[in-house]
Amino acid sequence: MKPETTDRKVTIEQHKRFSQSALWRLQREYFDKEGINAWVNQVPFYITSNPYIAACYAKIVLAFMKDWVKLHPEAKEHPFYIMELGTGSGRFSFYFIKTLLELMHDLGIKDLKFCYIMSDFTKHNIQYWEAHPALKPYIDQGLIDFALYDMEAERPLHLIRKNVNLSPELLMNPLTVFANYIFDTISHDAFTVLENKLYELLFSLHTDETNMDRNRPIQMDKIGVDYNIHEIKSAYYGEPELDAILDLYKKELHATSFLIPIGSIRAIKFLKKLCHDKLFVISTDKGYGALEHLDNLGHPSISFHGSFSMMVNFHAISEYFKNSGGDAFLQTPRRGIRTSVFSSGFKINELPETRVAVSDWVEKMSPSDYFTLHSRVRDHFTDYDLDTLASHMEFACWDPHIYLKISAKITSLLPEGDVETVTFIAKNMPRLAANYYHMPKTECILFEIGVFFHAIKKYEQALEYYRQAQQYVGEQFGLFYNMALCEHHLEKHQDALEHFKHAFTLDPSSKETEEWITFTEKALAEIK
Ligand SMILES: C[S@@+](CC[C@H](N)C(=O)[O-])C[C@H]1O[C@@H](n2cnc3c(N)ncnc32)[C@H](O)[C@@H]1O
Repeated sequence: MKPETTDRKVTIEQHKRFSQSALWRLQREYFDKEGINAWVNQVPFYITSNPYIAACYAKIVLAFMKDWVKLHPEAKEHPFYIMELGTGSGRFSFYFIKTLLELMHDLGIKDLKFCYIMSDFTKHNIQYWEAHPALKPYIDQGLIDFALYDMEAERPLHLIRKNVNLSPELLMNPLTVFANYIFDTISHDAFTVLENKLYELLFSLHTDETNMDRNRPIQMDKIGVDYNIHEIKSAYYGEPELDAILDLYKKELHATSFLIPIGSIRAIKFLKKLCHDKLFVISTDKGYGALEHLDNLGHPSISFHGSFSMMVNFHAISEYFKNSGGDAFLQTPRRGIRTSVFSSGFKINELPETRVAVSDWVEKMSPSDYFTLHSRVRDHFTDYDLDTLASHMEFACWDPHIYLKISAKITSLLPEGDVETVTFIAKNMPRLAANYYHMPKTECILFEIGVFFHAIKKYEQALEYYRQAQQYVGEQFGLFYNMALCEHHLEKHQDALEHFKHAFTLDPSSKETEEWITFTEKALAEIK
């Protein structure tokens, strides 16, 4: 890539097919460089990494496994492999596995085996998952494997822990694939339709020369895009199931530009080969589902948020599955994200429990409905009373991410809260703690649970959670000071003294701590 300088603008590339644009390389470099830090206030991820969406997926996948073994009793002899693409933080994986195991336990299901494959193209994410305390029990039980899988490259897909390749010999049951916020992240081709003619949309990139360092753009969001069109007269892909989609759009659309998520389709095609063409895909992303929504659109807009993403053409993915003998269920449009389900090698309607679960958890109370309602509460939580906040926590499956946002408000409402509500929250604190998936530079939920019990004068429980928080919070004045206060109330004066003294080393300017040390020393002397 040799930049050509004109005035203060630098041309990065000209007239490129979108899927071959340098933007995708920059995107990969971004995720590889940032690793887990991509999720620290940069790339949005709550929407696809919360316990609610994971529970929706778990209910669908359990229904699918049950349906499958009913139709194919021999399937019980083999594990169902469930693979997450572009996994990212691993928070979704944790909630999915946890919920699936809980459901199987509650229903007394002991004869279904599964293995969850967490995959990503960057090893930095894999290193983070391998060391994550929340995933450890599942790793130890052999329920999780890891794979360094680049969806844009067809290489053997190696399972790191089992030390085998994912292959038709291993995949005796259909492969379930999760694709959350990943189809929008990898390469797309771009096209324009005008007066029944189809054009390839070519991209030229430029940026200010101050945004260049050693011939490379520094910040992606400072890159400008110009478009050119070039008429397509023959079969563009030379693959009937893909060219049929372009033919359909040429015939049915009037004046618009659209994307074909070619990187994702190629990855699906590759995965199909590994699993005897029996694939079950669930994907949540932002995108278009209906043909009519693809018409009258301008050139594709690129949204930058640390990385960048595009609207996913779920309609094209659905056509691709249908053109190759599969099936698709697309959620009716909502604002924001949408969830879609695709199958290859079988029809969703052939599987009754699956069909109902998809209707319940993709259409009726979908992850996008949850997020819309949740966002409303999140944006106005200071207006709500304790009952409403407690109900919202239940709706959100006791999600630590939400509790951390509202914990100060909850604590402030506790003195006037009614006994039932306070007891209800207290009873669910172990669920909140069990949902803890630690992420860098975020507050510790165990500490906040300690604060809750502290505020309702349940000092033993408070102390227990403060102790558990220590490994995440580290040497923090507030933790040791609070532990000492609880110990004081429990008349554990020696422990209290040690922790007040420890707190004082962390903040020698704290007069209160100094006074507590004197007071506790006196109390201890009187006891002796
Ligand atoms: C936008 S994030 C989504 C993460 C997660 N699925 C979620 O919903 O929060 C995209 C993820 O895909 C990974 N990724 C990017 N390009 C990829 C590729 N070519 N193959 C596999 N993973 C890729 C990134 O490392 C990142 O973890």
